[in-house]
Amino acid sequence: MSTGVDKPIQKGWISVELHEVINNRRSVRSYTDTNVDKAIIERLLNSAIQAPSAMNSQPWAYAVIQDVTLLKEYSDRSKHFLLSLLDQVPQLNKYKAAFENPEFNIFYNAQSLIIIFAKSKDLHSNEDCCLAAQNLMLTAHSLTLGTCWIGFARPFLNLPEVKEELNIPIAYEAIAPIIVGYPQVNPPAVPRKAPEILFWK
Ligand SMILES: Cc1cc2nc3c(=O)[nH]c(=O)nc-3n(C[C@H](O)[C@H](O)[C@H](O)COP(=O)(O)O)c2cc1C
Repeated sequence: MSTGVDKPIQKGWISVELHEVINNRRSVRSYTDTNVDKAIIERLLNSAIQAPSAMNSQPWAYAVIQDVTLLKEYSDRSKHFLLSLLDQVPQLNKYKAAFENPEFNIFYNAQSLIIIFAKSKDLHSNEDCCLAAQNLMLTAHSLTLGTCWIGFARPFLNLPEVKEELNIPIAYEAIAPIIVGYPQVNPPAVPRKAPEILFWK
């Protein structure tokens, strides 16, 4: 499949490929063992940084983990931490059995994890990082890679001791942990609600 990302923009060109990428991207939860090359990760990061940001502040920084043993360890420690949060965050209770299951890897055994950190607590930093995340996920899909945003990892990644382990400045906040890999299966579309239009004056 053509990635489309290097095509020059032409007047009147209808972006069928962009439409395809937006509509067919899915969260992928099973991956092959194939590693994602460094050059591909760099390409994803270069797409991420093209995102708009408030006052062009570009308040993001990126970390990449491609060590599956470390990812398994972080999955186990994330689950342990999430179980300790069940009383404070009742919505997590429905995942209790999964968090207690030693076979459940919150990173779905993906080979790579990219974490987007907000470097500042400015008003729009989190939104800026989310836009970078979407660029990254759409570009990955256009390159036949799968991704899944792993919100389960976020509380753990923001623990001071984990930032210290990873040499992440304490003031940085993990916003978007995204696994990347080659999909074992392409998941079917997840239904969407029609746009709820509140007003159109
Ligand atoms: C902020 C955020 C956090 C998410 N966290 C998780 C997660 O921890 N584990 C997971 O399997 N999927 C997670 N997802 C993926 C969503 O479940 C998924 O995007 C949604 O079900 C729609 O499916 P689709 O991405 O295939 O269209 C997350 C998505 C977002 C945007």
